[in-house]
Amino acid sequence: MGDSGPALLKRGDEIVLGVDDAAFEGRTIGRHEGFVVFVDGAVPGDTVRVRILKVKKSYAEAKVVSVEQASPYRVAPRCRHFGPCGGCKWQHVDYRLQLKFKQQHVVDAFERIGGFVSPNVLPIIGSDETFFYRNKMEYSFAEKEWLDVLPPKVDFEHPEKSASPPSEIGNQQSEIHLGLHVPQRYDKVLEITECLLQSEPSNDILNFVRSFARREKLAVYSSDEDAGYLRFLVIRQSRRTKELMVNLVTFEHRPEIMTQLTKELLQAVPEVTTVVNTINSKKAQIAFGDREKVYAGTGIIHERLGNLLFTISAGSFFQTNTSQAEKLYAVAKDLAALKSTDLVWDLYSGTGSIALFVSDAVNHVIGVESVSAAVEDADRNAKANKITNCSFVLGDLKDRLTKETDWITSHPKPDVMIIDPPRSGMHPRVVKEILEIAPPRITYVSCNPATQARDVKMLADRYEILALQPVDMFPHTYHIENVAQLVLRP
Ligand SMILES: C[S@@+](CC[C@H](N)C(=O)[O-])C[C@H]1O[C@@H](n2cnc3c(N)ncnc32)[C@H](O)[C@@H]1O
Repeated sequence: MGDSGPALLKRGDEIVLGVDDAAFEGRTIGRHEGFVVFVDGAVPGDTVRVRILKVKKSYAEAKVVSVEQASPYRVAPRCRHFGPCGGCKWQHVDYRLQLKFKQQHVVDAFERIGGFVSPNVLPIIGSDETFFYRNKMEYSFAEKEWLDVLPPKVDFEHPEKSASPPSEIGNQQSEIHLGLHVPQRYDKVLEITECLLQSEPSNDILNFVRSFARREKLAVYSSDEDAGYLRFLVIRQSRRTKELMVNLVTFEHRPEIMTQLTKELLQAVPEVTTVVNTINSKKAQIAFGDREKVYAGTGIIHERLGNLLFTISAGSFFQTNTSQAEKLYAVAKDLAALKSTDLVWDLYSGTGSIALFVSDAVNHVIGVESVSAAVEDADRNAKANKITNCSFVLGDLKDRLTKETDWITSHPKPDVMIIDPPRSGMHPRVVKEILEIAPPRITYVSCNPATQARDVKMLADRYEILALQPVDMFPHTYHIENVAQLVLRP
């Protein structure tokens, strides 16, 4: 920290600093006389005027007021909602630099959290499509709107003229708004009229449903009052078959409204192939429900991954970036170095997509998953693809993998484990049991390199990391998927 310190900075101060690196969660780092300042809305290479928002013992937090000198990596964001919409935090950063940050994020996690020295991180696999890559978007209804605040405008020719962003103000007026939640504000949505992450019809549907809801004066569900009607709009479009599902999630079942909406929607957006109404009468604000009513089509869409055809219903989990999911699974398959005699355990198997994807290279795959609907989907997907060497088991891994149950002893030991846990990583008891079972090879797929590095550190006495392969599934966000190839030490 040198002779600088928090005493030199206070909340509300405006200072000019150079930004030289990316930090976790899409922030950047600059230094003020050696003191670390985390900056929101900058690009490494920028010189920015920032306003200090918080001062802590060893760092401060600030936001950009104006860009004094733009980084060569700064690009003009394409989306009109960029800035207040937390969805694409890095749209103003050249995609090549985004990939560099993500690669470095994996290196840092394994060095700092995992304690590994110079881990073998292979060059990141980028996404061919950086816009319109999602097959699913979930929008929320709210009575209150978060005002669309413009990001700092950058005049690339004359950066000194760049405008300051206004501060964020919420609009109190009560109406029907449909869009995305701004980070940390669950009572308000940012009205979205065009999102560049899903295909064109998705925007038409979004705008149509909003107009319909306003015209019909439908009520937005309020969790405070536990009353109202509209909750979420979920749009899913298969990238391969183009089938398109519109799922309106509501608090109640009101068939007359759904019938009218379906009739008008099919006329307005003829690309729609199925319309579903999910009814969630619980307080929990989730886009799943107790009942599903199909108003048009079959209530399902199909998506292709490699040679496999998946059936996706309104409640099914499915990877949101189809093309990158194919690449990710191909990496997982490759790094698992599969043999035709192998027994594979696919832990946290979800709807079985990894198990089914690797099934043609091995003798048998056993998937373990705690959500029964996902296990049912996995069985259905296996059947539909005429795959007979995969079986899916329902259960919580931390119970399944303990010695008390007879499950482990009644199943042959795996040659390979493919593990794909949620962001929180594995329960320590699960890691302990994996060490007991000691499969010769492990492929660990993760959407959170920090928890992955923590778990791999626990395995490191017995397992060596051969390679780490980052794959970018979500351009313009700071999220990164990483596959670790581990082998049992002799
Ligand atoms: C990242 S997803 C893996 C998805 C899967 N590979 C797929 O492509 O469908 C993590 C999965 O782990 C499941 N899960 C979470 N905690 C679990 C636990 N304790 N035991 C078993 N499965 C769990 C979740 O339901 C989810 O399906």
